[in-house]
Amino acid sequence: MKSIIVKASKTYEVKVGNGLLDRIGQTLKEKNIQGRIAVISDKKVFSLYGNKLISSLNVAGYDTVAYTVKGGEGSKSGKDYLKILEFLAKNQFTRTDTLIALGGGVVGDLTGFIAGTYLRGIKFIQVPTTLLAFADSSVGGKTAINLKSGKNLVGVFNQPEAVICDIDVIKTLSKKDYACGMAEIIKYGMIFDEELLELLQDGMENHAEEIIARCIDLKRIVVEKDERDNGDRQLLNFGHTLAHAIEKASKFRIAHGQAVAVGMHLITERAVEKGLCEKQVLDKLESLLVDYDLPVAVNIETEELFEITLVDKKRKGDEITVVMPEKLGKCYLKKMSVNEWKEFIL
Ligand code: GLY
Repeated sequence: MKSIIVKASKTYEVKVGNGLLDRIGQTLKEKNIQGRIAVISDKKVFSLYGNKLISSLNVAGYDTVAYTVKGGEGSKSGKDYLKILEFLAKNQFTRTDTLIALGGGVVGDLTGFIAGTYLRGIKFIQVPTTLLAFADSSVGGKTAINLKSGKNLVGVFNQPEAVICDIDVIKTLSKKDYACGMAEIIKYGMIFDEELLELLQDGMENHAEEIIARCIDLKRIVVEKDERDNGDRQLLNFGHTLAHAIEKASKFRIAHGQAVAVGMHLITERAVEKGLCEKQVLDKLESLLVDYDLPVAVNIETEELFEITLVDKKRKGDEITVVMPEKLGKCYLKKMSVNEWKEFIL
């Protein structure tokens, strides 16, 4: 088991290892979590792990309730958000109680936002169940729901009390979810860590705990430096401005991880064409994406993607900050005017 301590506006532990779901009740006792617990999950994840989680909580003496959403980006909606608030109020949840997000990025983001706003804030714990959520979304306190106009447009920074990553769940991931998580993991290697790229080339199955813990530690460093996303944290958006546009243009038929893969590839391709990035970066990225069953292109006009990027929340007035690849394991932030961005990408 690996333990990473994140020292942000709140200090909390991220545990990564096998068999952690069975011991979660005990873990929460050790962390002095008191009161009742509401488990928020999606139907599929809850059917796989709900009983295990709830029985561990009950054995440790916790009184629990559970709420499941349908799952998928559609569940990060204002409607689901309000329904869960009503559920908590009806069950008389108070500020001394705690929420657990059992699921992937959708459930984690939704639950974190509810925890940040219900009664002006109650505690929550992330129990991620996808690779994407292990390596990225469960750590660092970004929470949000979507608007019709775009993804994650309403949210708060809200750090969890703890993050428990039971890597046994990797065994039950679908091929697509596995691949999507790998896109975020490859992202960490591309931005910060050439050695991580080598571990990935050697095979996720040989180094899962080390690779996940390494991504979380990289995220810890970034979040400790720039919790509120005003500087270096924006590096984690490598490929994401385009990815959000791809997701939207495809009406969310293209999943986030697949869109991130294409977004990273497109921006790296352009950076190489403009002489801003070494060609070997594109070659390495492409070979890893292909090895991990990820797409490198989609059938959507870049012009359409460009238009959608203009409503991205990362745009500030006439300026857009682009995460630019430079060499293996190194990206940097480049501010561009909307015209420069257009010229670069089209
Ligand atoms: N997923 C990017 C971030 O947490 O900043």
